[in-house]
Formats: sequence, structure tokens, C-alpha cells
Amino acid sequence: MANLEELLLSRIRDVADYPEPGVMFKDITPLLADPAAFTALTDAFAAIAERTGATKVVGLEARGFILGAPVAVRAGLGFIPVRKAGKLPGATLGQAYDLEYGSAEIEVHAEDLSADDRVLIVDDVLATGGTAEASIRLIHRAGAEVAGVAVLMELSFLDGRARLEAALRGAPLESL
Ligand code: PRP
Repeated sequence: MANLEELLLSRIRDVADYPEPGVMFKDITPLLADPAAFTALTDAFAAIAERTGATKVVGLEARGFILGAPVAVRAGLGFIPVRKAGKLPGATLGQAYDLEYGSAEIEVHAEDLSADDRVLIVDDVLATGGTAEASIRLIHRAGAEVAGVAVLMELSFLDGRARLEAALRGAPLESL
């Protein structure tokens, strides 16, 4: 998959000192604007969904919505948004997690997941792993299984992979 990796990397723009000094932001908008790259990414995620036996795709707000929704369509699966707290209108399950300073909470509509589901979680970046770990916990608490976590990029120096290991219960973390 060296060609895929090269194509994807060539369409990710590094933006220095954004959103604050010292941070190198990974901007995926050039990738989204390139139909060949966006299609290749969608196909690669859909292949992971198929390989892991996923029955649903969960996208993490906000870029996980953009990347995950076409994967669900391509794989013939339903799409479920995991949102920041307070955005979903129905009965929700929530999961809080720690940030460097303070905490955050994500939510899912409880009725969207059942014990029959195997969920592929899709997002753009795995950084500290806090968001993905909270999502895994949320899906397990909803009674569903996690088929895997699939991200475009993994910032390996932050060691999010290690943070997810226990929560994943053997399910794969795949970064493209
Ligand atoms: C970013 C990114 C991931 C998360 C990764 O989202 O899209 O969802 O952070 O970080 P972590 O591994 O340290 O948890 P962000 O919270 O910036 O939300 P946004 O996409 O709504 O801007």
C-alpha cells in the first residue's frame, strides 16, 4: 500500500503554529478536494470495514463525519455520529474523558447501537487517543462490539495506540 500512503501524505498539509504556537496542524482539506485521493481513502477504509466484519460505521465529530459517512455508503452499512455533548436530540449515552487541561464528553444516540452490532470507528487523527478510547467505551456500554478503529493518521509520538490497547480487547487499530 506504499502508493496509497504516498498519495494520502501528499494531500495532507502541515500548518505550523495552528491553532496555537508550537502545534503542527494536519490539514486534510486538500485530500477532501481531490476526488482520486478521497476515493482511495474511502475504499481503503471500506476494505477495513469488510475485513473486520463491521455492521456499522461510527464517525467521530467533526472530521470523522466527513471521512466515515462515505465509508458507510461504500460498505453498505449504517452510519452513526458520535458527537460532542449536547448536540444530539434523542436519548443519549455519554462518556467523559480527560484532556490536557480539563475534560470533554462525547455522546451517541442509545437506540442506534444494539448487541448485534460490530462497529468500525473512523476518524482523521489518532493523537493522545482520548477521543477514540472514550468512543470505544461508549460503544461497549451501548452493548455493541468494536470491530476496530480506523484512522487516516496516527501521531505515533503521542502513543495513543498504547492508550487504546486495553479498551480495544484485541480489535485492530489501523492507521493508513
Ligand atoms: C481531533 C481529531 C480527533 C481528536 C484526536 O478532533 O479530529 O477526533 O482530535 O485527538 P485525541 O486522540 O488526542 O483525542 P477535535 O477534538 O479537534 O474536534 P473537531 O474535529 O470537532 O475539531
